[in-house]
Amino acid sequence: MKLSTFKKSAITSMFCFLFFSCLTNVEEPFEENPTEDFCKTRSFSLHVKPIIDNNCIQCHGQGGNSPNLTTFNGVSSNANSIKAEVVSRRMPQGNSLTNEEIQAISCWVDEGALNN
Ligand code: HEC
Repeated sequence: MKLSTFKKSAITSMFCFLFFSCLTNVEEPFEENPTEDFCKTRSFSLHVKPIIDNNCIQCHGQGGNSPNLTTFNGVSSNANSIKAEVVSRRMPQGNSLTNEEIQAISCWVDEGALNN
């Protein structure tokens, strides 16, 4: 096989893979490291808060189980323990997050749990 042919087919299969991934929303396995860009662009208000609101505050709301995760302070001051709970899939109890949601939380914590 000529090198150029090989390159072409490699590029073609890469595009097929990417296209297929988007089409079927195939999730990357969690072990695979998210890209640096993905991590650096995770924001509290755009990504983390909606995940927490949809999956956690029914149990971790005002007067609920500790920690209270309804505010930025509540989430950021428990960032490391939240990361540990979701990465190990102990939380959310009785439900599960997608790999992308877990990676978003994990990245946001690693980037300093900022109010961004
Ligand atoms: C169905 C109820 C329920 C949901 C939903 C839930 N939790 Fe919990 N969570 C609990 C209970 C009960 C505890 C305390 C007992 C335990 O650790 O199992 C707890 C404990 C915790 C703790 C403290 C663990 C420790 O080491 O003390 C953290 C952090 C946490 N949850 C984070 C989350 C996050 C983040 C979510 C959403 C992704 C979530 N939980 C969703 C019920 C829930």
